[in-house]
Amino acid sequence: MTENVKVMLSEEEVDKRIQEIGDQISKDYAGKQVHLVCVLKGGAFFMVELAKRITVPVSLDFMSVSSYGSDTKSSGVVKIVKDLDEPLNGKDVLVVEDIIDSGRTLSYLLEMLKDRKPASLKLCTLLDKPSRRVIDVDVDYTGFQIPDEFVVGYGLDYDQRYRNLPYIGIMELGEE
Ligand code: IMP
Ligand code: MG
Repeated sequence: MTENVKVMLSEEEVDKRIQEIGDQISKDYAGKQVHLVCVLKGGAFFMVELAKRITVPVSLDFMSVSSYGSDTKSSGVVKIVKDLDEPLNGKDVLVVEDIIDSGRTLSYLLEMLKDRKPASLKLCTLLDKPSRRVIDVDVDYTGFQIPDEFVVGYGLDYDQRYRNLPYIGIMELGEE
């Protein structure tokens, strides 16, 4: 099997868009502190770049979840592999994700985080594939809406590789 990555969104395009979202978040959270919750591992690259562009006070925490079921189709039942270090109560929480596909993982996760009584809970995603949605999720900040293609880079992986690409690419698989 050959692997080829075709650029979908260049590094410049992604950086420009992250700056715009950072500006918007800085406005929306004026006078507040925003608590970014990164969903590992995919969200890490986006979260770091986004955090650098937010001008209100920022605190960060990380969590790692795995969804039960097969690798290709998420079941929506999420197991916490690594929980947050700090409680969320009273905080203005912004969940940072790499991509929303079916929405199963996120809708489950958001319900779970809501129970921890944050002052507010919003969602920011670098990529959104709206045509794939099975469960409705309210997204507050979206980097790019993309068609139903399997993408890698900027935190997104194919078999744990390609996360480090500084751009978003379409994964093309071919026969040798
Ligand atoms: P869902 O929204 O519950 O279906 O799952 C979203 C998760 O599936 C994301 O956090 C990614 O880990 C993974 N995923 C979905 N689409 C892609 C893709 O195009 N490339 C890489 N990972 C993807
Ligand atoms: Mg993910």
